[in-house]
Amino acid sequence: MLIRPRRLRLNQHIRDMAREVRLSSKSLILPLFLMEGKNVKLPVNSLEGHFYYSPDTVFEAVDDALKCGVNKFLLFGLPSEKDEIGSQSFNENGVIQKAVRAIKERYRDEVLVITDVCMCEYTSHGHCGILNHGYVDNDKTLEYLAKIALSHAAAGADMVAPSDMMDGRVAAIRQELDKHNFINTLIMSYAVKYSSSFYGPFRDAAKSAPSFGDRKSYQMDYHNKKEAVKEALTDINEGADILMVKPALAYLDVISEVSKHSSLPTAAYSVSGEYAMIKAAAKMNLIDEYPTMCETAVSIFRAGADILISYYAKEIAEAINRGD
Ligand code: PBG
Ligand code: ZN
Repeated sequence: MLIRPRRLRLNQHIRDMAREVRLSSKSLILPLFLMEGKNVKLPVNSLEGHFYYSPDTVFEAVDDALKCGVNKFLLFGLPSEKDEIGSQSFNENGVIQKAVRAIKERYRDEVLVITDVCMCEYTSHGHCGILNHGYVDNDKTLEYLAKIALSHAAAGADMVAPSDMMDGRVAAIRQELDKHNFINTLIMSYAVKYSSSFYGPFRDAAKSAPSFGDRKSYQMDYHNKKEAVKEALTDINEGADILMVKPALAYLDVISEVSKHSSLPTAAYSVSGEYAMIKAAAKMNLIDEYPTMCETAVSIFRAGADILISYYAKEIAEAINRGD
């Protein structure tokens, strides 16, 4: 007898019914860029379709996303001043703190506000921590990360997301949050974050490129997969609530490995370079943007992700609503 797998591909109804992976707009997170000032809405040149907002205009972005069914946001801040120790990152009147207060006041629990916790946008040297003779001082940086996370929680963030890749930061942040009674503020750890060329457009957007050297002494080496499991297990032990793998597309095997070894939800960050590649190729008429976006988003969930952070979050949500 001839086995005919093609019967399950016969028509759209059967294919729709037989799908193994189904996406939900509830698992999508949209990154937003916040800029100091008033009445700001400026295009992000390296990320077509994205804008910088100030705390008083960000509602426009939130409203747009809500219309598409996306109600989770990851906030990045561009301060007006930078210094050696990134003072604006933990200023209670910093751009992120102001934006979080404004969003939570207006939307309450209609939205989930997640803040990126790092120093690179705030330091004059662009590294993700405090420097000691040109080397990022791990333990000194932990004190600052804890302060930043606390200031975000105090402003009303539902979840903080440390992206610095220092050792021990989840424990340091959890301890500081608990000490100040923010026991229900979640930590989504960028647990498995590789040193990657795919961050280019983001660094341009966030003005956060290191002024010397690179991030290879803290972000992971892309030749390694066992190390991903080690980082994941470490962050579970330190009290993380969600683990993230970043980037996503070139790391589908890592997403799969981490989700198998982890008892926590796995988030994947489809980073700026992934978005920019699709945009650029589509613009050159080499690929069709919409189906490529759908296919890559599905691939990330098929690999094992439970949550997706994407610059296409709104468009993916619309695709899901359409049944594509
Ligand atoms: C660093 C940080 C990076 C991104 C967000 N925060 C990576 C980096 O600059 O090394 C990249 C996000 C993206 O490319 O979309 N804390
Ligand atoms: Zn950083």
